[in-house]
Amino acid sequence: MKIAIVTCSSTRTLAEDTAGAALAERIAASGWTVCSHVVVDDDRQSIAAAIIAAAAGAGAGGTSGDGADIVLTCGGSGLSLRDVTPEATADVCERNVPGIAEAMRAASLRITGRAMLSRAVAMQRGSTLVINLPGSLKAATECYDAIYEQFEHAVQMTAGGGH
Ligand code: MTE
Repeated sequence: MKIAIVTCSSTRTLAEDTAGAALAERIAASGWTVCSHVVVDDDRQSIAAAIIAAAAGAGAGGTSGDGADIVLTCGGSGLSLRDVTPEATADVCERNVPGIAEAMRAASLRITGRAMLSRAVAMQRGSTLVINLPGSLKAATECYDAIYEQFEHAVQMTAGGGH
């Protein structure tokens, strides 16, 4: 399984992206491949372009590789007017997969009431599943840990497999 990481931040560099690095470690620990990892400006067009590139397999800076089965965005899903990752995701995806964001918020609410401030979405762009994670190291890994066990089944079902 190939997973891309798109960190949405106009202040972080790839080297400073501790949340993205922690996600990459977890992905590798499951035996999956990080096919690209980029940091993009947190404006709607840049994020949308990075999601398209990650899904298609062309890296928009940083490392690049094959097209992703899953794209994890990191950051930009809160209430600040600068937070536009869910809008950028919806711009380039067709179908909502609400249960994934619901599961992240349900698990996170047991840790912090601030989880209700997440506007994260999970959506499909063609056969690629795009999932918004929060931007901090703690929040991103907590959310990842709440959902990653369903990744393989999600990708198999997208490819036409049964239960
Ligand atoms: N989820 C978990 N598990 N832990 C957290 O600390 N923080 C919340 C929420 N989800 C949080 C969390 C907060 S404060 C915000 S604003 C939203 O995620 C969105 O974060 P983002 O703007 O970094 O994407």
